[in-house]
Amino acid sequence: MSVVPEKKFSDALRDRRATQSFDSTPIPDADLKQILQAGLEAPSGYNIQPWRFVVVRDPEQRKKLSAAAFGQPKVAEAPVVIVACGDTQAWKNGDLDLMLKMAAEHGYGGPAEHEGARKAVTGYLGNPPGNAGGIGPDIAVWANRHTMIAYTTMMWAAETMGYDTAPMEGFLEDKVKETLGIPAGVRVVALLAIGKRKGDKKPYGGRFPMDHTVFGDTWGKKL
Ligand SMILES: Cc1cc2nc3c(=O)[nH]c(=O)nc-3n(C[C@H](O)[C@H](O)[C@H](O)COP(=O)(O)O)c2cc1C
Repeated sequence: MSVVPEKKFSDALRDRRATQSFDSTPIPDADLKQILQAGLEAPSGYNIQPWRFVVVRDPEQRKKLSAAAFGQPKVAEAPVVIVACGDTQAWKNGDLDLMLKMAAEHGYGGPAEHEGARKAVTGYLGNPPGNAGGIGPDIAVWANRHTMIAYTTMMWAAETMGYDTAPMEGFLEDKVKETLGIPAGVRVVALLAIGKRKGDKKPYGGRFPMDHTVFGDTWGKKL
């Protein structure tokens, strides 16, 4: 557990900025595990947990990753870069069985419920997507949807623990996959650098007012 008292969520929300530069202060293993575990507690459809995370700490590997991320210096600077991935195949390669076994061990549901869940997951994920006449999800959107919840939970966990973070979409997916040995069927969703900020905090760029982005009952109608 971190020795620094955790920030209140509202303080983290106010303080967080996308960090442009990091110093070399390392993240203790216990803190890193706490951040990762927070993300792994995220919810997912059917509890199928399709996310995978490659935690890149090795300086050489971070340099290579930076090259795959358009040379963004923060990737090479930050002591930890989490590469968040969505595995579109894991559910049929053992994760569905594993999830049902875990549920049984936790006393969650019985054999009939587990059989029902197996059918539901297979029927949904094994079906062509809705835009192709089926009832299945767009698998890239599906992988992204789940992975980003776990990823964002890690970001806020790190912030409440006093770390600075940088979310990134600026990378070439194929290059990242090649650098880290990520297999086919796995999508790279986003990178998250974590560490301690170097230099001044980036100014707040503001947010659209609520009436620009939030509607009531019908798209476009004021809440
Ligand atoms: C998913 C995602 C991807 C982003 N990708 C990059 C990136 O590749 N490089 C970068 O410098 N900033 C990146 N940003 C940071 C945004 O530019 C930043 O969050 C936004 O300007 C708002 O600033 P703030 O987070 O400091 O409030 C990304 C943010 C998010 C959420």
